[in-house]
Amino acid sequence: MREDIAQVLVTGEQIKQRVKELGEAISRDYEGKDLLVVGILKGAIIFLADLVREITIPITLDFMAVSSYGSGTSSSGVVRILKDLEVPVEDKHVLIVEDIVDTGLTLKYLLDNLRARQPLSLKCCTILDKPERRLVDVQIDYRGFCIPDYFVVGYGLDYNQKYRHLPDICVLKPEVYRRS
Ligand code: PRP
Ligand code: MN
Ligand code: MG
Repeated sequence: MREDIAQVLVTGEQIKQRVKELGEAISRDYEGKDLLVVGILKGAIIFLADLVREITIPITLDFMAVSSYGSGTSSSGVVRILKDLEVPVEDKHVLIVEDIVDTGLTLKYLLDNLRARQPLSLKCCTILDKPERRLVDVQIDYRGFCIPDYFVVGYGLDYNQKYRHLPDICVLKPEVYRRS
């Protein structure tokens, strides 16, 4: 597995420090508010698990699973909901938690979809932002790291459903994804 990795881009230790800062900022900003944290399956689960443990105010948790049609290293833009929230959100402040914003198409869809349900507020938090790849404009309220246009895996991010469990954010060797 490690032989598939070209380079560690962000170490587990660097992530830990940044996640702590994000948790503190979120705890400050939502003090006294009814916050629903929405993790986007599957990529966000590792970040979400770390982030919520750095949040010091009461929150509730829910999940959405979305899928962009097609596989490989980029998303197609057509998004479909595989698993929806279990509760209405009109009485809640909603924070979407993502692992990465790449083209922005997934987040744009989620923001539009959730905004239509009229939550008290709607923001998003992502551990990684890859602005060079953006196709649609989305506002990112909490950002862990801005990264260059490398294909990255680990800390929740996959290639063909693999590598999600790596504790660091790693650049995959190009021959790994050229192989398939
Ligand atoms: C990945 C990632 C984001 C999205 C970002 O999810 O976790 O959700 O793509 O790409 P975009 O900005 O170009 O839309 P993916 O669809 O691979 O599903 P997964 O989370 O289950 O890996
Ligand atoms: Mn995802
Ligand atoms: Mg994926």
